[in-house]
Amino acid sequence: MQANPGVGLADVRDALLALPHPFTRAAVHDVARDLRLNAADLRGCLNFSPGAYTRTRWYAGDRFEILVLCWLPGQASPIHDHARSICTMSIVQGVCRTEMFEVADGRPSESFHHGESAPLTATGIEECGAGRVITVEGGDIHRVGCPSDAAEPLVTVHFYLPPIVEMRCYDAATGQCRMSRPETLSPAFA
Ligand SMILES: [Fe+2]
Repeated sequence: MQANPGVGLADVRDALLALPHPFTRAAVHDVARDLRLNAADLRGCLNFSPGAYTRTRWYAGDRFEILVLCWLPGQASPIHDHARSICTMSIVQGVCRTEMFEVADGRPSESFHHGESAPLTATGIEECGAGRVITVEGGDIHRVGCPSDAAEPLVTVHFYLPPIVEMRCYDAATGQCRMSRPETLSPAFA
């Protein structure tokens, strides 16, 4: 069997634009799975900061957005849900550590208000490398990051369908919920 030669990020964007509405998790995952990228292909979007991981816009449309996330070893996202969006993440470079959580009493994430505490239970940890594609949706709760002992920075490409304006983040110690509007940087194309 021949290896899939893959397609570039503009091809994936165009394939997503051609998908019928509403998007389905399986269809988006299948499209993103063909992506083959090197970090060098993302010039202008590679913003590493010692303060925190960064999110840089590669494409923004009404139906979805594409962001490049850059993580130094030891940096991680807050524990968060995905509002009403499908989120597909493609790992471009490095090792990505994903921790999954559930609400112990089964309440959906969207039912928690700002300031309320959720009884979160860790349900699994996965570490995976370049070429892997992970899709989550809506009330799925996880934390993503680059392990502190990683040999190189992590670069991931995220497809949010529709774009996420605001989502729930949860304090790792207390489970307290806060509504968060993540900062997105603009690309700096030379
Ligand atoms: Fe996420």
